[in-house]
Amino acid sequence: MPIEAHVSRDPRGAQVVREEASLRVLKPRRAAPDHVVRPTRAEVDLTALRTNLRQVQRAAGTAKVWAVLKADGYGHGAPAVARTLERAGVDGVAVALLEEAIELRDAGIRAPILVMGGYYADSYEELLAHDLVPVVYHVGHLQALARAARTRGLGEVAERGLRVHLKIDTGMARLGVRPAELPAMLEAFAAFPQIVIDGVMTHLACADAADEQGDDSVRAQLTAFDRAVQAVRAAGHTPRWQHAANSAALLRSGVRSKASSSLDARFSAVRPGIAIFGGVASTRGDLELRQTLRLRSEIVDLRTIEVGEGVGYGHTFRATRRTTVATVPMGYADGLPRSLSNQFSLLVRGHRAPIVGAVSMDLVTLDVTDVPNPRIRDEVVALGAATPERNAPIGVRPATIEVEELARAAGLIPWDIMTSISRRVPRFYRT
Ligand SMILES: Cc1ncc(COP(=O)(O)O)c(C=O)c1O
Repeated sequence: MPIEAHVSRDPRGAQVVREEASLRVLKPRRAAPDHVVRPTRAEVDLTALRTNLRQVQRAAGTAKVWAVLKADGYGHGAPAVARTLERAGVDGVAVALLEEAIELRDAGIRAPILVMGGYYADSYEELLAHDLVPVVYHVGHLQALARAARTRGLGEVAERGLRVHLKIDTGMARLGVRPAELPAMLEAFAAFPQIVIDGVMTHLACADAADEQGDDSVRAQLTAFDRAVQAVRAAGHTPRWQHAANSAALLRSGVRSKASSSLDARFSAVRPGIAIFGGVASTRGDLELRQTLRLRSEIVDLRTIEVGEGVGYGHTFRATRRTTVATVPMGYADGLPRSLSNQFSLLVRGHRAPIVGAVSMDLVTLDVTDVPNPRIRDEVVALGAATPERNAPIGVRPATIEVEELARAAGLIPWDIMTSISRRVPRFYRT
């Protein structure tokens, strides 16, 4: 990475030279496991992750699997997830931001990395320096990339070309070349023979709507995508990769028996995100995907309140019986949505305990009156399986909270829950 020297003066006029990398990469500083005092933590099950990858590979058939690990690997910690998946044979990874891609390269990930967001500002050289594959969809991308390659000296890049994936907007209306603009874009490519269209991609808007309207929308987008790929080929390009499928589209294609061939979105590669982390029941089909995330804490305080007493900000809960209230150090600043206030139950040693009062920034309060013998340090689980008690009968599945269940109660989606677990919650990895 190029180093820039910044010269300034200190308050007494002495010259201060500060060197820093020209790209100020945002490094998410997450609480490290050995720095934390609080018992609140997220545990990532790497075995489940590997199982999910195998299941996804099965659904993908001959298509390559590019795992989508944006937003810090869906909140799991992208470097650890990428390392695990790379060792387990993933074909590539995809992220949204250049910063996310560089974090993975810095962590030693060697798999191909696709940068999907399309915003590279003045950091095109970083793309080249880190051997990243940018997604492009306007002429400015091509000009800047060619300029960066000139500045950097093409060297080895010249031999294999500057590889890019061209994004087509087939109906999401966010990013990508609109089909009507594709001929002009392909003409623009002619001025940059060093830029190679190695992949063509699109993103589906309604793949997880398992109804006729969803099917119609997917079919229309796939038809438009097919046409765009043909146009790219007709212009003399030979993209190795065509990809459109997120998890829902992949699972529709590979698993759902009523999926017709016109809904098969697998092409030569697929881009699943949520399926890698356990998926969503509505699109899981017959795949055995396992939830990879567990969010747990402990009771740190207990009190008994009388009938009529209120709990928490605004006293949104008032006791209608003598109530034992447990205080747990996990709040909305950790990723426990405030909309769960008085709406959901967490697991205290495997027993459901309703949230009473408002979820606050650092704390949540539970009614543990019906939990047998609640104590300080009892385990509280917000996501995932409760640790079985010592005397639990063998073979009985422990009580579990699925991400989907919690998301539904909060009026959110599983993606939202996973990616909102904040950086002050340390991630622990179980192998
Ligand atoms: C372009 C693109 N592809 C693939 C995915 C993966 O989606 P999912 O998590 O639904 O599998 C995403 C995530 O939003 C995305 O933005």
